[in-house]
Amino acid sequence: MKTLKSFPRRRFLQGGALAASNLFLLKNAVPEPTQVAPSDRVRFGMIGIGMQGSGLLPNAISLPGIECVGAADLYDGRHTLAREITGNANLAVSRNYHDLLNRKDIDCIVAAVPDHWHMRVVVDACNAGKDIYCEKPMSHTISQGFEMVDASKRNNRIVQIGSQRVSSALCEKAFELYKGGAIGDVELVELSMGRNDPNGAWQYPPPPDLSPQNLDWDTWLNDAPKIPFDPLRFARWRCWKEYGTGVAGDLMVHLLSGMQKTLGWNEAPRSATSIGGIFRWKDGRNMPDTLLVLFDYHGIPVYVRLNLGSASPEVARFMGPRGVMETSGEEIRLSPQRGVDTSPSYYSGGFPAKLRHEYVSKWYAEHEVTPGKEPISEDTVFRGNDWDDVRPHLWNFFKAVKSRNPVTEDAVFGNHAAIACHMANEAYFRKGTVYFDEATNTLKS
Ligand SMILES: NC(=O)c1ccc[n+]([C@@H]2O[C@H](COP(=O)([O-])OP(=O)(O)OC[C@H]3O[C@@H](n4cnc5c(N)ncnc54)[C@H](O)[C@@H]3O)[C@@H](O)[C@H]2O)c1
Repeated sequence: MKTLKSFPRRRFLQGGALAASNLFLLKNAVPEPTQVAPSDRVRFGMIGIGMQGSGLLPNAISLPGIECVGAADLYDGRHTLAREITGNANLAVSRNYHDLLNRKDIDCIVAAVPDHWHMRVVVDACNAGKDIYCEKPMSHTISQGFEMVDASKRNNRIVQIGSQRVSSALCEKAFELYKGGAIGDVELVELSMGRNDPNGAWQYPPPPDLSPQNLDWDTWLNDAPKIPFDPLRFARWRCWKEYGTGVAGDLMVHLLSGMQKTLGWNEAPRSATSIGGIFRWKDGRNMPDTLLVLFDYHGIPVYVRLNLGSASPEVARFMGPRGVMETSGEEIRLSPQRGVDTSPSYYSGGFPAKLRHEYVSKWYAEHEVTPGKEPISEDTVFRGNDWDDVRPHLWNFFKAVKSRNPVTEDAVFGNHAAIACHMANEAYFRKGTVYFDEATNTLKS
């Protein structure tokens, strides 16, 4: 059984080379459960109670006034799971999510279905008048993302995409720091993560009892090619482009969404160039296990390294003339840089003695450097709740369902992050640079 993510791990620096650190515990914006007036309650239907849905569901119902009143999944074992999580043995369950969309007493939907189902679920929900929280990456293809934006606008429905870190207090802090000029205007962004274990590479164990009797396999396939029932495809769909979006859509999308929020960007990249391959997990997958991507965001280079064959921390590094801001796990580290010379140029070693002495004397006359009084730089570390705690993001959505205020990650924002993922994959498969054409919303080689 999943545990609630409401008490996230806190990680403290072990000793360290920090010149100074600032323990800054940011306040979680989610209120503790209190009495909620009936008019403030939100009733939702849950679609997809698999790995992620089984985490979203308990977190959602732990929020004040939020109630799950129905669940849909194509696999009957997950009907049992939904009833176990909600503690409601009579929870209405169905294989058909339209049963939830047709109910008048349901305000909104939370959906955690595989990527190749996102578009249909979101468009159907919006057309049925339901707001929807849908997992990341928003779409399975570029054209689908635009259909989803359109459905949201046409029906005036709230769509929140599930890259949860954008609602974290730390992401808000990173945005404030950047906006306040902490590193100057960003010149380069580096995003990286690595894993080195079968689970991390998506080799998940299928549910032991899974069979065509308790799973609607044909519907699960959606518009993917029809193939006989395959429990590995059901559990490990991320490995194949017919259902998933690979390391780009599964993992990079979080890094890119965090970057968009931190820098205040809301756009697709102009171009993407990728190289990679299947180096470690030769298990029949067709998505790369290693992918390196170079994006051009209005002229700013964004370099991404994604690797399922060697573990490394997940880090976003923002670099500017006034310093570096690095975000990972539960902290932001700000390392200011003065960007000035602290001694005469070593290039003067190539001057004849007289010229060198004159240059060095002049430099010291113009710069005050007292031995033992050299400037010391100071890093600042801000710590808070886990970036990836889902409760603030769910709360942001449920509040918007009532208030009709905009959410943190609406369909336009989610679409921009998803387009970048599709560009990275396309560049890998086409073995070259792809460009996003805003006039046609398509990719050009
Ligand atoms: N935000 C995050 O940190 C995070 C983490 C993990 C997964 N995810 C996302 O969550 C989504 C689900 O991933 P998962 O790992 O939980 O997958 P999963 O395969 O474990 O669960 C998906 C469930 O959806 C059900 N389903 C599929 N099509 C359906 C349909 N048409 N109607 C009803 N049920 C349907 C399946 O039967 C399955 O039970 C994916 O988009 C994934 O990218 C997000």
